[in-house]
Amino acid sequence: MEVVIVQNSEQGSEIAANIIKSQLTKKSRSVLGLATGQTPLLLYKRLIEMNKSDEVNFSKVTTFNLDEYLGLSASNEDSYAYYMRENFFKSVNIDLDQAFLLDGMTTDVERECNEYEYKIKKCGGIDLQVLGLGREGHIGFNEPTSSLTSRTRLKTLTPQTMEDNKIYFKDATHRPFHVLTMGIGTIMESQHILLMAYGEAKAQAIVETVEGPITAMVPASILQMHNKVTVIVDEAAAAKLSKIDYYKWVYENKPHWQRP
Ligand code: GLP
Repeated sequence: MEVVIVQNSEQGSEIAANIIKSQLTKKSRSVLGLATGQTPLLLYKRLIEMNKSDEVNFSKVTTFNLDEYLGLSASNEDSYAYYMRENFFKSVNIDLDQAFLLDGMTTDVERECNEYEYKIKKCGGIDLQVLGLGREGHIGFNEPTSSLTSRTRLKTLTPQTMEDNKIYFKDATHRPFHVLTMGIGTIMESQHILLMAYGEAKAQAIVETVEGPITAMVPASILQMHNKVTVIVDEAAAAKLSKIDYYKWVYENKPHWQRP
């Protein structure tokens, strides 16, 4: 696991955007796994700028989003489909037929989830998966006690996640607690995983993810078993790590040929 400690989310997003750029330069038909929430917003902004200045080209890219609220349609402003369209897809040259999200309006959850898994496989798997981190260590919507080998399925949110995400809802009267999410096993099959976390609210989840024991109580801790994970954190999210100096030293001395 590579831990990159940055000054702020602007710097972290710049590094993340460059990792994506280098992935697309290597393979124009890359499959990206995408996340929602507050964390990747600046990354999307930076990628939009890079797309406008022709530094990155999304025309052959396929994307799969991590999760979606059950019962929200793509046109609902609180859905992740809407978020992706507004914050990213509508501003870049991506082929929208190749930008996949789970359908929150499905009437057959099992089928929807199995088809999503099938589509990911058919595209050759995810090359680079972007992740945010829940306060209790969730990735996607894999809440504590999620099976560490789980596949795409329905999950029920914890009260903590409901509370954390409440600020994002425009319609306070309809906040679904059932969601569809890629499984942890699904996420773990990605070739490269890029986890970002900013702010002190994420410090506990970060120390448990990076340095804690692997446990279903902190779903992100399974990333310790993946052979290519980049964790980008600001000083506040890194505050509880015991080896801060070591992580910084490793990154400062990273061979130039390993850099994006
Ligand atoms: C949300 C999403 C995750 C996201 C995480 C962190 O509920 N399901 O994909 O990464 O929780 O959210 P935020 O970036 O807003 O802190």
